Amino acid sequence: MAEHLSQSELDYPFKLLEYLNGYRISKGIFSACELGVFELLLESEKPLTAGEMAQKLGTSEDGLKRLLDLLVAIEILNVEDVQGTAFYNNTDVANLYLAKSSPKSLHTSIVYQSQTIYPLWNNLGDAVREGKNQNEKTFGLPSEEIFSAIYRSEDEMLKFMGLMNSTWVIDRHDIATAFDLSRFKSIIDLGGCSGVLARELAKEYPSSTVTVLDLPDVIQSAQRHFVQEGDTIRFQEGDFFDGEIPSADLYILARILHDWKDDKNLKLLKKIHTACNTGGGVLIAEVLMFENGRGTTLTQMLSLNMLVQTEGKEHPPSYYKHLLNEAGFRDVQVCRTGKLYDAILALK
Ligand SMILES: C[S@@+](CC[C@H](N)C(=O)[O-])C[C@H]1O[C@@H](n2cnc3c(N)ncnc32)[C@H](O)[C@@H]1O
Repeated sequence: MAEHLSQSELDYPFKLLEYLNGYRISKGIFSACELGVFELLLESEKPLTAGEMAQKLGTSEDGLKRLLDLLVAIEILNVEDVQGTAFYNNTDVANLYLAKSSPKSLHTSIVYQSQTIYPLWNNLGDAVREGKNQNEKTFGLPSEEIFSAIYRSEDEMLKFMGLMNSTWVIDRHDIATAFDLSRFKSIIDLGGCSGVLARELAKEYPSSTVTVLDLPDVIQSAQRHFVQEGDTIRFQEGDFFDGEIPSADLYILARILHDWKDDKNLKLLKKIHTACNTGGGVLIAEVLMFENGRGTTLTQMLSLNMLVQTEGKEHPPSYYKHLLNEAGFRDVQVCRTGKLYDAILALK
């Protein structure tokens, strides 16, 4: 198959051209989100012309029309021509995932990708050459202080928290139900950010108490901006590297171990093992590579993303199994969810 593909690419490099222009597709969608295109079309009771939309969004009509026509070409928008005038409307996917007010909106994650990840990827070549993140070159912040760079202002912290939230909007149920966790009565989500995954666990396992432990500034921000009425989860300020880890039956480590180098990961897992109640465990949620080092395109891109932004990388299940065993955990089970994030459960 690969031979056939590369043979046809020699005749005319369709796929290569598509890849080379991929960033324009991303930026087209990012910009439409930032300008409010999808939200306007969701709110509108009827399809709109480029002129009507330009007026409401405060853009040039010509620029907006070209952007709308790109979105039509990639099947993100629908268009209907009525007596020579184009009327634009969201596809169902745009209504569900791109409009800001949809409950499944990826809007915050898209804005973060546009404003933070995209500039970091502009230095991808340097990241590969130097083997380290590009926070210093991109934002003038020390490369070893990952979360000081990510949280360089309250506004950036909120944007990052929004990014974390919007991933779990689509994947949280699969992680919460990858294993039956009902026997774990006290659960601590270490580095649990604003608590989206913790809330899903609390919903799925109502007889368990679920606590989010994160850095003090993050917890304070979560309590100011993300607490919901009737919230069933608790928040606790802490530092999983330098502070105490409270005892619990189950610890969640969602997208934590991929941020750090091996020695820090082992130190953290050993601390968790010591704090963990007998019969308890740890649940890891990460994107998993295949054992041969390959992975889906998205997995490989996320691993490169860890290079440009953090000190970690994405790993195959054997990496986590080895670390968990080193830290004293046993009975390591892996659940590939078939979605972006997978789950690993290990017991003390
Ligand atoms: C990549 S985010 C993952 C957030 C969340 N678990 C999720 O999957 O949405 C890493 C989280 O670890 C937290 N964190 C980083 N260093 C920490 C530390 N030393 N102690 C506690 N939390 C920390 C960050 O504030 C952030 O919320």
